[in-house]
Amino acid sequence: SYPAQVKIVEVGARDGLQNESSVSTDAKIALVNALADAGLKHIEAGAFVSPKWVPQMADSSNVIRGFVRREGVEISALTPNLKGAELALANEVDEFAIFTAASEAFTQKNINCSIEESIERFRPVVELAQKNNIKVRGYVSCVVGCPYQGEVEPEQVLAVCKQLLALGCYEISLGDTIGVGTANQVRQLLTLLLSHIPAERLAVHFHDTYGQALANIHTALELGIATIDSAVAGLGGCPYAKGASGNVATEDVVYLLQGLGIDSGIDLERLAKAGWQICEALDKAPVSKVSLALKNS
Ligand code: HMG
Ligand code: MG
Repeated sequence: SYPAQVKIVEVGARDGLQNESSVSTDAKIALVNALADAGLKHIEAGAFVSPKWVPQMADSSNVIRGFVRREGVEISALTPNLKGAELALANEVDEFAIFTAASEAFTQKNINCSIEESIERFRPVVELAQKNNIKVRGYVSCVVGCPYQGEVEPEQVLAVCKQLLALGCYEISLGDTIGVGTANQVRQLLTLLLSHIPAERLAVHFHDTYGQALANIHTALELGIATIDSAVAGLGGCPYAKGASGNVATEDVVYLLQGLGIDSGIDLERLAKAGWQICEALDKAPVSKVSLALKNS
C-alpha cells in the first residue's frame, strides 16, 4: 500500500545546476529560497567537490550562506571526502551526502577511485558528521544501468547499500543515474533490497532520460518507499554520465502524489513559479509537463 506521507528531497540546485554552465550565484540563492518558500523541507543546495571536476558547484559555500535559514528546512550537500566534509561543516550544512556507485567503472570516472576505496574515503566523513550531530545520506549510482559497463546486478546494489548503512548512513538514495530503468526492473531491485533493508531507509533518485521515472516512482510507492528525490523543472544530469538527462521533475512528482492522496506539504503553484524563475535564468523551458500545463491553464 502507498505511504501516507512522502518526503521529497529537492536536488535541483545540486544535481540540476551541476550540469548547467552559466547561472549566477544570486540566481542559485533565489532558487533555494523559492524552493523553501514552496514548502520543500529537504534541499540539496550544493556540492563540496573538486572545482576542477565540477566547476559549476564551486560557489556552493556562497549559495548555502546566502540562503535565508528557516525552521524545519534542512540543507544538504555532497561531501565526497574529508576535505568536502570540512567545507560543508564550515558552511553549517545540516546533512552530508556521500556518493558511490554499484558500478566500478562509473565510480572511477565520477570520483576517481574504486567502490571499496570510496567506502574507506567516507569513513572520516561519517566520523566528522557524527561528532557534529550531522546526518549522513548515502547515494548509490547506477542501480539499474551504467553508462560504461551496461547492466548492473541487483545483488551488487544490495552489497553497496549494506556497506553504506554499516558505515552509518541513515538513508540510501538509489540512483538510476542514466534513467534507463523500467518498472519491472525497479520492482525486482526493490523487492530484493526490501528483504534486507527497511523501506524507511531507502529513497529513489530517478533520472528521466527514457521517460520512465514517474512510472518507476509509482512502483516504488506501491512497495512502500516514502522518500523521493526530484529536481524542480526537471533540471539536471551527471557530468560523468554522458547523455543522462535531468531528474524527474518535482512538479510532476507532486502532481502524482496529490492524485494518490499522499501528503507532501508542497505548494505546487509556488513550486512551478520557482521552476520558471530558474529556467528564465537558464534561458530554457522547464522539463516538466505539469509545469507547462499549469503555465498554459
Ligand atoms: P582526485 O583528483 O582523485 O582528488 O578527485 P585528490 O584528493 O587527488 O585531489 C586533487 C585536487 O582536488 C587537490 O587540489 C585537492 O585539494 C582538490 P590541488 O592540490 O590539485 O590543487 N580537492 C578538493 N577541492 C575541493 N573540494 C573537495 C576536494 N577534494 C579534493 N572536496 C574527487 C577526487 C572525489 C575530489 C573528485 O573526483 C570529485 O570532486 N568528484 C566529484 C564528481 C561529481 O561531483 N560528480 C557529480 C555528482 S554525483 C551524481 O551526480 C550522482 C547522483 O546524483 C546520484 C545519481 O544520479 O546516480 C548523486
Ligand atoms: Mg543524480
